[in-house]
Amino acid sequence: MSTKSKKRTQRKIAIILGTRPEIIKMTPVIRALEGKGADYYILHTGQHYSYNLDRIFFEQLKLPDARYNIDAGSGSHAEQTAKILVGVEEVLLKDRPDVVLVEGDTNSVLAGALAATKLHVQVGHVEAGLRSYDRQMPEEINRILADRCSDYLFAPTKKAKSILLHEGIPKSKIFVTGNTIVDAVYQNLEIARRSPNRNFRPITSHVEHRALNLEPRTYFLVTLHRQENVDNSTRLKGILQGLELVASEFSLPVIYPIHPRAAKMMRQFRLKPKNIELVEPLDFLAFLQLESNARLLLTDSGGVQEEACILKVPCVTLRDNTERPETINVGANVLAGATPNKILECTRLMLQRSTKWKNPFGDGKAGQRIVEIVT
Ligand code: UD1
Ligand code: UDP
Repeated sequence: MSTKSKKRTQRKIAIILGTRPEIIKMTPVIRALEGKGADYYILHTGQHYSYNLDRIFFEQLKLPDARYNIDAGSGSHAEQTAKILVGVEEVLLKDRPDVVLVEGDTNSVLAGALAATKLHVQVGHVEAGLRSYDRQMPEEINRILADRCSDYLFAPTKKAKSILLHEGIPKSKIFVTGNTIVDAVYQNLEIARRSPNRNFRPITSHVEHRALNLEPRTYFLVTLHRQENVDNSTRLKGILQGLELVASEFSLPVIYPIHPRAAKMMRQFRLKPKNIELVEPLDFLAFLQLESNARLLLTDSGGVQEEACILKVPCVTLRDNTERPETINVGANVLAGATPNKILECTRLMLQRSTKWKNPFGDGKAGQRIVEIVT
């Protein structure tokens, strides 16, 4: 082995993650690192900490425990980002890696990338180059800044690469790898399909604790958690009314595993949607199973827009823009915003569309490619 290649195989990697989607989307990278016997550790920021947003995924996806958890928890943007920044710096000084990997656009990503680059630790950004061009979204600020801090920009698509080039990022730093969510879906879908139907834990008082016994294609599945939707009472009311219209026009159940942020805001605004089955957030296999069999998905989640496209389930996005335009371009997704009638119209439209689109997010080998590049 040459000195150069020997040196490269010894590079130490720190995976920084903190929220549900980061855990899910980093799993293929972690599996590839494990497969290679690489020197790496996981640093959990603690941004998500409830069992069903955090630990459940480590257990179900059989991930190694994080070596460090800085328990940042919830707070205002400044408070949360600052706690993570300080905590990450402490860990990186004590257990210095050669490369830090972050995934996506959360406060954990921004703080992780910033702390690392200030210590001259190289940063790899998984899912680089996504842009909604909407600076009201905290995620847009986080993505742009994380990309600016990064030495390796893992763009999921050619479109994301072209955005980065346009912003002046050198070509040599950009790698089109596909999105690791494709790997995660392919690695878990069969297991999900073979799993028995779960009992869902309803959280509305009018629904008894029972299995929903859902037959394929006989229900709609919803997720909704984004700050600009759920913290704004007008938008939240509009979306819930839209979902009620959909439930009554098609006479099909609307299942909504509710994110704690949305649950908190519904309580605060005293909103009690009718004809929507609110259930606790689900583990990944149960959610994948429900998603792959849904008639249609209605969501404001980034990951769910991608999964719908990969699973060939039509999607109505409850937002005015998306940083995943590939889903719209292939015909898998449409933007409905937060107006009740528009949500109903978009649902009608998507139910008539053919689902023969091609998945634009890669071949399911993104995790391996990323690991080959950084180790
Ligand atoms: C965060 C990300 C968002 C991502 C989402 C994934 C930012 C700015 N936002 O949003 O991009 O799409 O995660 O789900 O980074 N809470 C709990 N338990 C938890 C975590 C949060 O109950 O484990 C509740 C708390 O009331 C908290 C609220 O949810 O105040 C919001 O949590 P936070 O991490 O600030 O943002 P998310 O809405 O989860
Ligand atoms: N997800 C899950 N259980 C749920 C809802 C979502 O496992 O009850 C998964 C989903 O499959 C996707 C990810 O969570 O992989 C998306 O996370 P989220 O919507 O919280 O964040 P975003 O992708 O919008 O950042």
